[in-house]
Amino acid sequence: MSAKVRVFRTPYELAETFAGEIVEMISAAASENRYVTIALSGGSTPELLFSILGDHFTNSAPWNIVHFFWGDERCVPPVSPDSNFGMAFRNLIKKIRIPEENIHRIYGEKDPSGEAARYSAVIEKYVHKTESMPVFDLIILGMGEDGHTASIFPGYEKLFKSEKNCEVTLHPGTKQKRITVTGRVLNNAARIVFIITGGKKSEIIRQIVKKEGGYMNYPASKIVPVQGTAEWLLDADAAKLL
Ligand code: 6PG
Repeated sequence: MSAKVRVFRTPYELAETFAGEIVEMISAAASENRYVTIALSGGSTPELLFSILGDHFTNSAPWNIVHFFWGDERCVPPVSPDSNFGMAFRNLIKKIRIPEENIHRIYGEKDPSGEAARYSAVIEKYVHKTESMPVFDLIILGMGEDGHTASIFPGYEKLFKSEKNCEVTLHPGTKQKRITVTGRVLNNAARIVFIITGGKKSEIIRQIVKKEGGYMNYPASKIVPVQGTAEWLLDADAAKLL
């Protein structure tokens, strides 16, 4: 694994440090007169990061140059408690001054296959490209207790071979339809950052970091940057077996 592992005492320390780095990245882009594309993750872990950004960095970054995307979305309406967009909106987006047209949510309420095609085109349109491949400035990822990331679950490794930017997939347990950015695009980002907290994922983290056991069965192990960098930001519990 060619990623850098950084361990923080608590989830709050992890989120606060990373929030500051995100703001620095945005400010640096502003000084270069360019906009920034950031793909957000869903689930519960990023909620603390988003709320720190929204509450403590409300006016500390030129949010108007940021374009937010999502690495995946559940096929539910934005008002659903399951919505990754909804969680980001409540904790961050509604608190900052960012143009509405810079918020590129996945329409979870729409027909999944049509929406996957529409969102692929949105990525084509707004995300900087290198050799015709979209290069997100930053992709924030989480990891599930089964080693999935974005909505690429074990057994769906074909999503790392897809030539598309997005695909429709399923949560294998709940059968909930999801739209996910594909592994090719995830791995092509300039900066990939996993944020993982809690002891429940420590064994999978150990296997992936040490390349031991069945680590190749975990989609998160297949997140390997093609041209950028990857970091795993862990709290002490998540890193306890390293
Ligand atoms: C999602 C996420 C998913 C998430 C992991 C970890 O839509 O659920 O994108 O990949 O990052 O499931 O979720 P927790 O942070 O809730 O553990």
